[in-house]
Amino acid sequence: MRVLFVCLGNICRSPTAEAVLRHKLRELGLEGCIEVDSAGTGDWHVGKSPDSRTRQAAQRRGYDLSALRGRQVCASDFSRFDLILAMDNSNLEHLRRLRPGKATAELDLFLRRYELARDEVPDPYYGGEEGFEQVLDLLEQGCAALLRELRGRL
Ligand code: 4NP
Repeated sequence: MRVLFVCLGNICRSPTAEAVLRHKLRELGLEGCIEVDSAGTGDWHVGKSPDSRTRQAAQRRGYDLSALRGRQVCASDFSRFDLILAMDNSNLEHLRRLRPGKATAELDLFLRRYELARDEVPDPYYGGEEGFEQVLDLLEQGCAALLRELRGRL
């Protein structure tokens, strides 16, 4: 099972989702069973570390993003991954346009899939500190629900 999280820049939301899910998988000893990655629809931050505000907020909750580097979604992702989860509707629309006709990956809006209180993980990039905490709150809830689904599919 392979899961890809996608946002716009791949320096705030999707790398955080990747780190949160990896952390939960490691706690359960399921790291080897599920492959996790993240990517951005944009190319501005390819090769860059996650945003420093994102890294610090995540670190305070015990998530380490230091090894992650930005990359852009590519056509082969749509056959390499089983499930591609977008952070907001704009990311989802972008992915739908990129999706090759023969693609096998299932595409979905991450939080809506699990009927959580919100459908989208808001972009924290131009906002204040509280936005990064909200991203973590939403992603922790989303990853807990995703994990329940993934465990049911193993
Ligand atoms: P992300 O946040 O999509 O959660 O990584 C953003 C990061 C960078 C930019 C926008 C959103 N940007 O415009 O550079």
